[in-house]
Amino acid sequence: MESKSAASSKKELLDRKNAEADLGGGEKRIKAQHQKGKLTARERISILLDQGSFHEIGRFVLHRSKDFGLDKEHYLGDGVVTGYGKINGRLTYIFAQDFTVFGGSLSETHAEKICKIMDLAMKNGAPVIGLNDSGGARIQEGVLSLAGYADIFYKNTLASGVIPQISAVLGPCAGGAVYSPAITDFILMVENTSYMFVTGPNVVKTVTHEEVTSEGLGGAMTHATKSGVTHFVSPNEVECLLAIKKLLSYIPQNCEDDAPRLSYQPGRELRPKLEVLIPDNPNQPYDMRDIITEITDTDTFFEVHQNFAENIVVGFARIAGRSIGIVANQPAVLAGVLDIHASQKAARFVRFCDCFNVPLLVLEDVPGFLPGTDQEWNGIITNGAKLLYAFCEATVPRVTVITRKAYGGAYDVMNSKHIGADLNYAWPTAEIAVMGASGAAEIIFKREIAEAENPGEKLKEKIEEYTHKFANPFKAAHRGYIDEVIYPEQTREKLISAFEMLENKVAQLPRKKHGNIPL
Ligand code: HXC
Repeated sequence: MESKSAASSKKELLDRKNAEADLGGGEKRIKAQHQKGKLTARERISILLDQGSFHEIGRFVLHRSKDFGLDKEHYLGDGVVTGYGKINGRLTYIFAQDFTVFGGSLSETHAEKICKIMDLAMKNGAPVIGLNDSGGARIQEGVLSLAGYADIFYKNTLASGVIPQISAVLGPCAGGAVYSPAITDFILMVENTSYMFVTGPNVVKTVTHEEVTSEGLGGAMTHATKSGVTHFVSPNEVECLLAIKKLLSYIPQNCEDDAPRLSYQPGRELRPKLEVLIPDNPNQPYDMRDIITEITDTDTFFEVHQNFAENIVVGFARIAGRSIGIVANQPAVLAGVLDIHASQKAARFVRFCDCFNVPLLVLEDVPGFLPGTDQEWNGIITNGAKLLYAFCEATVPRVTVITRKAYGGAYDVMNSKHIGADLNYAWPTAEIAVMGASGAAEIIFKREIAEAENPGEKLKEKIEEYTHKFANPFKAAHRGYIDEVIYPEQTREKLISAFEMLENKVAQLPRKKHGNIPL
């Protein structure tokens, strides 16, 4: 009888501890969290993971520090909930910082818990998702917390390209707290409750005398439009967590794996609508997303970096159930020109797809690189070279469709045959040349035009001559630089078959420690 009551009191102790751990920093702080429009760490996990699949690790961990009153204040779990579970049936590791415990600040033990999860994820080849909500280094712990951050950065870097790493920023993220997300593959933020900055508005005011709000300095829309730091913005946390689920559905568990393929019933593959999407006037814009919609499986296009460098469109989609990454010039914005931000955005996406075996489709309509002092002084050379380098070293299946312009260096850069693309198609509307006909005619026939009786007429004649020669895909097709000139309506059919044919592609880069991408 006595031993039974001893057992039940031990069980009660566990019950009490479990209840205490569930409460994090306590009811008052949970209420404050909700009042800010934020969920708690545990609520977030329960939305993200398949029901009942979460297994917590390190639930009763306590910090070891004693300075500045820390010896009197302990919370089970030490401000981060860590463990593993499933998302759409697939294993995923997760850590969720708990703002109700010391503002989610990162202590020595808090960092150890995150590192333990990352080690397990690496050994078992599954993604790590970080739900960040933290005031940064736990100030009372000094260098111990800085060391903890450095341990995480190091593991983030070693894991890069091995397992997908996804960071949702769901609260303040200041100081060192921004660098772990920055090393990961994708960042998601929420409007009005997420902030990322190296130094906050007060420090900015002291040092540079600029007056700026947290939202203006490092809010979700700031990083979505101006800096490009965040890849996705959601109106609320639930939408953000659903976006993580969707993102994961397009990508594999690790670099040795392939993305999940959905079953597909062949059907309406010819798309006559594609025949009329390109305007007759080659200088008239159109929305490349209309073409993407027509050639991909219904409602599968999932755009990445939607609000940043809108002159290029990148994102995941499916073709006959197969996950692909799309990089597409956007003639509707700045005529689809390549500039610094567009090059950075596309290069990063190409490298992600290549790390994780996601085949690449390039849709090309590009008048060239953006000229000007702003671009040159800020390094369009180095940044444009990033995109060039990223395509050159990509070994995944690579297919290009030139819909209209493919001019100058941009022709080479945008997944041309010369830099390793597997199949390059062109529509009859393609124009493949060093530059547009009027610019070209003015340069190469300068003297002839100047000496002509009617220079205006001569220029027109020479533009027509150049257009006839180069504003079409056939010169390139004669050389084999274009594998096939296709009718636009056939594009989807061609792509289904191309990606199927390339399914078992094996390509290897020369043996090296690592390349030196122009950063
Ligand atoms: C310890 C912290 C903390 C921190 C917040 N708290 N940040 N405790 N270390 N870094 C605690 C607060 O004391 C408070 O405790 C609770 O968390 C909630 O904080 P509030 O200030 O009340 O919340 P809010 O008004 O929402 O403001 C959140 C905040 C602010 C913007 C994050 O707390 C803040 O500015 N914190 C400091 C940020 C910072 O400078 N961190 C260091 C960055 S340097 P109670 O008990 O009241 O609930 C860094 C270096 C790393 O990270 C370098 C690595 C390379």
